[in-house]
Amino acid sequence: MSDRHRIELRWRGRNGRTGRTEIVRAESDESILDAAERADVGLPFGCRTGACATCTGRLLTGKIEHLRPPRGLKNDSKEDGYVLLCIARAKSDCEIEVGSDVQTDLVTNPWK
Ligand code: FES
Repeated sequence: MSDRHRIELRWRGRNGRTGRTEIVRAESDESILDAAERADVGLPFGCRTGACATCTGRLLTGKIEHLRPPRGLKNDSKEDGYVLLCIARAKSDCEIEVGSDVQTDLVTNPWK
């Protein structure tokens, strides 16, 4: 039997404002990316295998587990709460920061 968890997805607002928020329900046996798509909430993604990190989110509260080792994340990023939503399953209700701005936290931009 699978449990359902409440997932609050939060986009970063501009200039310190609160951004858009969406609530989706995730079964404990589906990825958070799949749960968002089922609810017609679009999130960035690429490979869907945990390699490219396009789907990176940051876990603010709650617990997730990765279905397989998240190859797209460095260890220090994992310790800082970053998760790969294409291979992440919710183990409790969660609040997760999402959107392309979150992935750019992990990438050094040589042009800046
Ligand atoms: S979509 Fe590539 S790591 Fe999730």
